[in-house]
Amino acid sequence: MSNSNNPTSSSPPSPSTKKSQWPFTFLTITISFPVILAAIAYQLDSFDPGAYPIEHTSSKEPMYVPKRNSNMLEGVEKIGEGKLLGPEDIAYDKKMGVIYTGCSDGWIKIIKLGSNLVVEEWVNTGGRPLGMVLGQHGELVVADADEGMLNITADGKIHLLTKEAEGLEFKLADGVDIAENGILYFTDASYKYKFKEYIWDILEGRPYGRLLSYDPQTKVTKVLVRDLYFANGVVVSPDQKSVIFCETALKCCKRYHIEGEKRGSVDMFIENIPGTPDNVMYDGEGYYWIALTTGQGTLWDLALKYPFIRKIMGIIEKTVGRPHMEKNGGALAIDLEGRPVAHYYDQHLSMVSSSIKIGDHLYCGSVAKPYMIRLNLTQHPAVADA
Ligand SMILES: *[C@@H]1O[C@H](CO)[C@@H](O)[C@H](O)[C@H]1NC(C)=O
Ligand SMILES: *[C@@H]1O[C@H](CO)[C@@H](O)[C@H](O)[C@H]1NC(C)=O
Repeated sequence: MSNSNNPTSSSPPSPSTKKSQWPFTFLTITISFPVILAAIAYQLDSFDPGAYPIEHTSSKEPMYVPKRNSNMLEGVEKIGEGKLLGPEDIAYDKKMGVIYTGCSDGWIKIIKLGSNLVVEEWVNTGGRPLGMVLGQHGELVVADADEGMLNITADGKIHLLTKEAEGLEFKLADGVDIAENGILYFTDASYKYKFKEYIWDILEGRPYGRLLSYDPQTKVTKVLVRDLYFANGVVVSPDQKSVIFCETALKCCKRYHIEGEKRGSVDMFIENIPGTPDNVMYDGEGYYWIALTTGQGTLWDLALKYPFIRKIMGIIEKTVGRPHMEKNGGALAIDLEGRPVAHYYDQHLSMVSSSIKIGDHLYCGSVAKPYMIRLNLTQHPAVADA
């Protein structure tokens, strides 16, 4: 860097050639000025990103997924445009035929499924509701990034369940699921950065995330796995033997064993995911659906590898703002063994934060967009390459 931004590297023009050299000098100054500023900013900036674990940053062949739909936006219908601001997660109440979602203005909204989709306000948490799941007593359990783990009873009353473990408060409660025995499994994406600062957690590249459990009987909160790189979506396996959870920054999902010989241990469930995984849900038909906020072929692959790129991204974030780099977002369906089955995405789709198949439709929430989307999978299936 020091060579390219040295302002004296072009020799001063001699008087006789001054006129003809003028555009050249002008160009040199205009080009080098921002470079010099950037170099100074780089030197002065105290933000010091860490290295991600090497096995996740080495180049790999893109994952092979047997079926895909790479133009999913073509068949998509928008839901609740303007009424659902950043509808991050989805909880499906089959009996009532409704879905719940949590918005960036703190509202938890209800969408009545049916021939016309009706969006209604339900409860405002005053925080940022992210992950949510239907409880066993008509309540909605919510991982609120700002407020912690909440129990919202059917009458709309909000009760705090837990907001810390081992003396360390959650900064970014994120994903949650509930086992048949009533135990809650959830993540704190970061104990260092709040939701509004989430990008800094990812740019910094140090493991501030945890997988935790909460037992409503004993009211005990336990840390099950620590040192996670942005712990995100959580799903209990249908056989109740394990918990699958996503590590967004590492583009993988891991499995925590609840019972059996491997009880208490963690192994890799699916890695080299074609994008950054957010929430994961089980569809009751043999598949998990992993939402992908951004897909392959982005600067993120390089950023994962090189801390200095993340440092520069941090400086840009602070000085200029967030460049829009996300693309090829969507959803990945995998089977119960973690094998990829179908990939739905689109070049112009991003910030998909939850995805779940309900009937014919794939419903997708978005952490950033002012609507949800759904796609009729019968009409727009993922297909094998010809
Ligand atoms: C939520 O609160 C209701 C009412 O007190 C209770 O019946 C239910 O078990 C609670 N749920 C959880 C997960 O704690
Ligand atoms: C989905 O599309 C299929 C094929 O066009 C159609 O038969 C079905 O009714 C649609 N499903 C819904 C819920 O609209």
